[in-house]
Amino acid sequence: MEKIIDEKKQGNSLVMEAKSENSRKLFIESYGCQMNFSDSEIVASILSKEGFNTTQNLEEADLVLVNTCSIREKAEQTVRKRLEKYNAVKRINPGMKVGVLGCMAERLKSKFLEEEKIVDLVVGPDAYKDLPNLINEVEEGRNAVNVILSKEETYGDISPVRLQSNGVSAFVSITRGCDNMCTFCVVPFTRGRERSRDPQSIVEEVNDLAAKGYKEITLLGQNVDSYLWYGGGLKKDFKNASEIQKATATNFAGLLKFVAEAQPKMRIRFSTSNPQDMTLDVIEVMANYRNICNYIHLPVQSGSDRILKKMNRLHTREEYFTLIDNIRKLIPDCGISHDIITGFPTETEEDHQDTLSLMEYVKYDFGFMFAYSERPGTMAERKFEDDVPEEIKKRRLTEIVNLQQEHSRHNTQKFIGKTVEVLIEKESKKSDAHWSGRNSQNTVVVFPKENYQVGDFVNVKINDCTSATLIGEAVGYSKNN
Ligand code: 5AD
Ligand code: SF4
Repeated sequence: MEKIIDEKKQGNSLVMEAKSENSRKLFIESYGCQMNFSDSEIVASILSKEGFNTTQNLEEADLVLVNTCSIREKAEQTVRKRLEKYNAVKRINPGMKVGVLGCMAERLKSKFLEEEKIVDLVVGPDAYKDLPNLINEVEEGRNAVNVILSKEETYGDISPVRLQSNGVSAFVSITRGCDNMCTFCVVPFTRGRERSRDPQSIVEEVNDLAAKGYKEITLLGQNVDSYLWYGGGLKKDFKNASEIQKATATNFAGLLKFVAEAQPKMRIRFSTSNPQDMTLDVIEVMANYRNICNYIHLPVQSGSDRILKKMNRLHTREEYFTLIDNIRKLIPDCGISHDIITGFPTETEEDHQDTLSLMEYVKYDFGFMFAYSERPGTMAERKFEDDVPEEIKKRRLTEIVNLQQEHSRHNTQKFIGKTVEVLIEKESKKSDAHWSGRNSQNTVVVFPKENYQVGDFVNVKINDCTSATLIGEAVGYSKNN
């Protein structure tokens, strides 16, 4: 499962470079995971061929699209508030059309059109190529909906336009959907079956980004480690079909190698890894290629074997520890982050203590922590009662967050006195005299700008830190420039 950007934060309205021949205006916002942000770039690419330029001004839009998240109830509430806002603007500008994309579109389908009458257009995550037809329908005065999920669609043939990009880092999606069926999760229902994208089209996209000056890519998927592409192969050379498949298949380790070798100067990251699918060969490839960043987002969700089983997580606490040990053995300085859910049905104080002790063992660099939110249609909703009271969920979440804060501080302090390579991404939020970027381990680093520029690889000596940020000064360009 993927990292959620911040469901409380306003979704960014995103802009692309304008085409002079385009006259219609698209306002597009994304909420939720990085995959949604990446999908919005595919949508903008499809619509730029339909005469749309993007705008950041809601009031002047001909078409408003919101790419939505269903992962927790709060994420849906945020989108509902935005829909109210769009409808208020629509009362002043009745020609404006409003469409819902992504997971909420898939989950609620035509309910938005029939019962709530608050949108004109509903499009699920696998139907974006149908947008030109659907928009025509809407322009002729009919509501339009396409929420058909596909077993094949990867949008591999669409070259995304980069929205509000810093020109330095980009996402490249490699798989879509999820076959894991964790019992708490709505994603398998909203994003459908897992499928992998042709490695050739992935590398072409990465090469194209490199040619445009990008310095870092993140390979994206709900579960990147289960990436698998069956290539071609001459039948006469093999005894049977499965042998052909085995001999010519590309797994995630193979894809990582392929990408790392195609662009040895580009930083490569990936997200998200599922513990049960992350194999030793992936860790070995990471260790062998200096351009693959030493960072793994490895959600655990709970430290209790009983809860992991109820969540259908398919690994035990011990197996998770073995994986962590292997990562640390092969990549001693690897940054590791987590997702944890607290208050899953039947979670006891003892289960909660197991989560805290697992965190103590791993000492994660950072993490994303959530109170369990029951999602309609999931196995957990159908089978288990949401029986942990809200105040207990809240208290446990606070304990988890506080412990993580302690570990984060412990880990950032270890960098003091060391020199790290940073890719400059943008100006620091807190000071226009400082740059902000990340080290290989994905920790944010800020330092005085001097004459360095966005996109430079710089060696930075760390002098100070908070629990989330390293503070230092540049000591020169890194040899990666
Ligand atoms: N309630 C709370 N958190 C959830 N997540 C997924 N589903 C739920 C839910 N029903 C969390 C998981 C996942 C992250 C992206 O969101 O921790 O890894
Ligand atoms: Fe991630 Fe599990 Fe949800 Fe799949 S089902 S998206 S692995 S949390």
